[in-house]
Amino acid sequence: MAEQKTITFTINERKLAVPAGTLMIEAARRMGIEVPSFCYYPGLSLQGACRMCLVEVEKAPKLQTACTLVATEGMVVRTDTPQVHKARKDMLEFLLTNHPLDCPVCDKGGECELQDMTFRYGLDKSRFVEEKLHSPEQEWSPVVYYDAPRCILCFRCVRVCDEGMGVKALGVGQRGVHSVIIPNRDDHLECEECGMCIDICPVGALTSGAYRYKTRPWEMSYVPTVCAHCSNGCKTTLSVRNNEILRANNRDLSGINKDFLCIKGRFGFDFVRHADRLKLPLVRRNGELKPSSWEDALAEIAVRLKAVRDAHGPDAIGFIGSNRTTNEENYLLGRLARATVGTNNVDHHRTADYSALVQALGETAGAAQAGMEQLGAAKAILLIGNDPTNQNPLVAWQIRTAIRLNGARLYVVNAEEIKLGRPATQFARIAPGAEALIAQWLATREGDLELDTSFAMMELRGALEKERDVVIVFGAELRGAAIAHIVKFGASLPGQTRYMALGDYANSRGAADMGLLPGQLPGYAWLSDPAARDAFGALWGASLPEKPGMDARQMLEAAAQGALKALYVVGANPFRTFGTGGRPAGLDLLVVQELFLTETAQPADIVLPAACAYEKNGTVTNTAGEVQLLRRAMETMGARADFDILRIVSHQLARAGMGTAIPLRTPEAALDEIRRGVRGYGVSLPGLLSGGAERTAPAAPANGHNLSEVPAESIFSARDTLFTSGTLGRYCTMINSVPEAKSES
Ligand code: SF4
Ligand code: SF4
Ligand code: SF4
Ligand code: FES
Repeated sequence: MAEQKTITFTINERKLAVPAGTLMIEAARRMGIEVPSFCYYPGLSLQGACRMCLVEVEKAPKLQTACTLVATEGMVVRTDTPQVHKARKDMLEFLLTNHPLDCPVCDKGGECELQDMTFRYGLDKSRFVEEKLHSPEQEWSPVVYYDAPRCILCFRCVRVCDEGMGVKALGVGQRGVHSVIIPNRDDHLECEECGMCIDICPVGALTSGAYRYKTRPWEMSYVPTVCAHCSNGCKTTLSVRNNEILRANNRDLSGINKDFLCIKGRFGFDFVRHADRLKLPLVRRNGELKPSSWEDALAEIAVRLKAVRDAHGPDAIGFIGSNRTTNEENYLLGRLARATVGTNNVDHHRTADYSALVQALGETAGAAQAGMEQLGAAKAILLIGNDPTNQNPLVAWQIRTAIRLNGARLYVVNAEEIKLGRPATQFARIAPGAEALIAQWLATREGDLELDTSFAMMELRGALEKERDVVIVFGAELRGAAIAHIVKFGASLPGQTRYMALGDYANSRGAADMGLLPGQLPGYAWLSDPAARDAFGALWGASLPEKPGMDARQMLEAAAQGALKALYVVGANPFRTFGTGGRPAGLDLLVVQELFLTETAQPADIVLPAACAYEKNGTVTNTAGEVQLLRRAMETMGARADFDILRIVSHQLARAGMGTAIPLRTPEAALDEIRRGVRGYGVSLPGLLSGGAERTAPAAPANGHNLSEVPAESIFSARDTLFTSGTLGRYCTMINSVPEAKSES
């Protein structure tokens, strides 16, 4: 690699060496020298609009804007002279000419950049006595409001919507002092409703429909955690007052997503206090679900599960877990099924074939998986299937970032005209369902492609063979053998190739990693491997059953035929997901742990109210295999964490004479066991505790299985959009109020 040239210059009488091309504002910040700015925002194009960043440059005839000035060899710069101070004061006085001084009621009061700058650099009085121009606030959408008089025309909102989001929904109208920001549809927005424009606005000109006029920033506590919705694992800070979440953002730019959140992460938290939340256990009596005490409901579960086990054996019981519950909860559920009950009938709705990816990559799986930050820094990306703009918004943001900031080339193979096709270097439109065939063709050049597709793929393959650093991203369209093919193709490329499989929900990856799979234990260890069975058996104090269990669909079919007698569902809605048309006729017992009375909970015998992701501690793993900490932000009276419920159920079962109780008392204890016992999960605890995303290092065992064709009925995406999110999305009132969400339903 060519060595980067360094230049040396002087700032405030101190010498500094920086890479050639560094902007003065960045160089100064690196030295801990603050240069005030409004319009400058790292990662966005330069605007030079606000002139707050003026600095003195020796031999220059006038002050220069540090945000557009590139540091050059020998330059002498001063940021702290009387002339600079006067310029800052003057600029602030101009900005405040028409700015309403309504800080006491403005949402931004207390965290406003204009307020802070005025406090630090401004005059203590105004010379303007003219009446200020006023115009009323405008509601651009249920989530975005605009107050023109507060706007300081820094154009950050316009740029983030255009460059960051690729939406271009904001522009500038009028001229001079009358300039205003305008939405794309006359008086309202038609856009992705991500709220990035609100987030990036340095003042209170753009405000959030979910948060406005509700509180003051100093009245809230701030809880860093992870978004509860898709599989991308955006870090979020929940602002909480009186046990209520009022806001979500990532303003400290920490985490894999920096300041990015999509509409679901930013506004999708009101499901927590939805009136339909379950708050009491329900037990069916005389055909109706009736409120019950926790003691009675849990005792009844144990007695009835034991009765089924005694009458029909452990394999008449099945467990369907969740792709939203934590790693510790998923781990506990697998342990309850295998060690306490003694069955391998454990599964969840699989939305990506992580198992096949780990298997295909073998011992190198950890290093060969791309993390979210690596995706954003990629030089070339091959995207097969999926629609990240809708299904994986952070992945789409990272891809756009790679294109915008690194000049990355994007190659798209999709059966639909997806939005990421627009910035793609090449877009191969293929027939629906042909993704696996394409993967095979790329790996072997064999397979019957249509003529047009075959030309497009030859061109795409030729281009990829010239790339040296490729990330291959794919959706649920690639499963089993198709993943082995794409990995074979990736290995044939000249440089380093990394991979990312895209699942649907916040812990889709963790559900698979923790062994909610009928044939695999945590860490993708095969049940057929006696050493793996023995190791987990020793850890769990039981001899584990060897026979692979039924997958979710098989369990539901067996339940319809009366071969499966009891089904225990945690945080999932399999009757809707797998379209059973209601409760399978042969079930004697149906237990559901849920937030809401879903299609699966309604016909249950026992329903237990569960806490959601924002109400508990634990860890989740995003689709890229990065583990992060969930922290409890609030509590809902009556609901309990799935972890506690499962732990208590294991104790009740042991008391009823079935297996041994799970001794792990807290999620922290379970995490400790996971870090010790699950392959790839020996992640750094300090890293996790300090809010980091710790990369797992999965590795398939050498005695792995050959990958075969996997039917789409086994692994499939729910194809959520930007405005839907499975069960949670149905109860997100704010998201459902935006017009774009209505047009989706
Ligand atoms: S909400 Fe998002 S998409 Fe809509 S205008 Fe703001 S930045 Fe653009
Ligand atoms: S609305 Fe906010 S971000 Fe947009 S130009 Fe005005 S002050 Fe800047
Ligand atoms: S991209 Fe996914 S994880 Fe990130 S805020 Fe949106 S829904 Fe949440
Ligand atoms: S920050 Fe430099 S001109 Fe605005």
